[in-house]
Formats: sequence, C-alpha cells, structure tokens
Amino acid sequence: MRLQKFIAECGIASRRGAEKIIESGRVYVNGDLVDYMGCEIEPDTDVVEVDGRVISRESKKYYIMLNKPKNYVTTVSDDLGRPTVMQLVSDIKARIYPVGRLDFDTSGLLIMTNDGDFANILTHPKHVVNKAYIARIDKPLDEAQLERLRSGIELDGVMTSPARAENIKRGQRGFEVKITIHEGRNRQVRRMLDAVGANVMSLKRISVGSVTLGNLPEGKWRRLSDAEINKLRGKNK
Ligand code: URA
Repeated sequence: MRLQKFIAECGIASRRGAEKIIESGRVYVNGDLVDYMGCEIEPDTDVVEVDGRVISRESKKYYIMLNKPKNYVTTVSDDLGRPTVMQLVSDIKARIYPVGRLDFDTSGLLIMTNDGDFANILTHPKHVVNKAYIARIDKPLDEAQLERLRSGIELDGVMTSPARAENIKRGQRGFEVKITIHEGRNRQVRRMLDAVGANVMSLKRISVGSVTLGNLPEGKWRRLSDAEINKLRGKNK
C-alpha cells in the first residue's frame, strides 16, 4: 500500500495532507526516514511513525450513534447466541464497541466508539451525563408517582439520584412518560417505574447528554458530528 494512503487511513490527514507530512520529513518506516513519494509499505507488518508516534489504522477514531432495536444485546458477543449490536455496524472497519449498555428489550440511542478516553468520560460516575428515556405505560402517572420518581427510589437498598419525570402525551399505543437520569444502574428506569406501580410496555433512550436520536431509523447508525463529540467531552458547553 502507498504510504500516503496508509497515513490517510489512519486518520492522520487526507492523502494530500499525508504527502505534505511525508515531504516535510516527519515520517519514518521501520526506523528509516521516508521523505519522498512512492514508498510502498506492508500495512500489517511495517512500523510507521509520524512525529515520533507509531500509527495504525486502529488509531483512527470512530464516534457513532446507533438506533438500537429491541432484541439486540449491547455486548460484543453473546453466549446465548442472541443478535448483537455489532451486526448492525459491521460495515465499520474498526473495533468499535458500545459505550455503556442498553437492555436487550430497550431500544434507542447507543453511542459506540473505539476511543477509550471518550468512552470513559461518558461512563465514569464522576462525569454527570444525563440520559433521557421514553417509557410507554398503560396509564399516565399521577403527581405522587412522578414525585417519587423525581425524589428518588430505593433500589437494592440504595436511593436513586434525583431524576426528571414528566408525562409526555397519550401516544398511539398507550401513554408516554419521559424520565431523565444520570446513573446507569441495572435496568434502572424499568425498576424505578416498577417501584411506583407503572406497567412498562416499551422503553427507548432518546438522548445522551445533549446528543439526541432525532429521526435516525431503527437499526441504522450515523457518525457523530465534531460538535456532538465535543459537547459529550464536556467542551463548548
Ligand atoms: N434503564 C433500563 O431499565 N433499561 C435500559 O436499557 C436503560 C436504562
């Protein structure tokens, strides 16, 4: 493979930009300076350094959102042989993985990346990232139920943090309540609703931080924009 193509595939620069980087003497292949055009490399075995750092095609970072359908697991593989979200993003040629999890029977916004620092920002408890869910329930919640959800529910002996909860509307197939939490305890929204006596028929995540699912069709993915990535990183708030 042409060296400039490899550098571009690593996400360092465009092919034209990669040519300039080579010409300016910033690239070494297997320890030798390569500052001329026409160098061919073996991408899987040759060691390419740009500015003293080894690059690989894995170093290209991907940030996507998937609209997960229900009946998919958010693990990379499943012992029970159930469909995994990896099958829905198989056209991405990098080892991306889900950030956090959504239950098998929950649909909606799932962020996936191969950037470990970014995943850590979104999942580490010290970063408060609000996540909003729409639950379809059989009857609207009364004020007392909403207030319990908002002020905290005891799950496994520990109170949930304050949440936002509001009846949204009477949907086509039932009533909808919107719940916003920032913790990620196991089946948290379902268990909170269960605790106030609501009967959850379906659950969908519609936003993570300021990033919203919008009208992305179920089962489809799209790249996050730079603005969305920066907002999730906590920059440009
Ligand atoms: N809460 C749930 O109950 N399920 C999810 O998938 C996410 C949050």
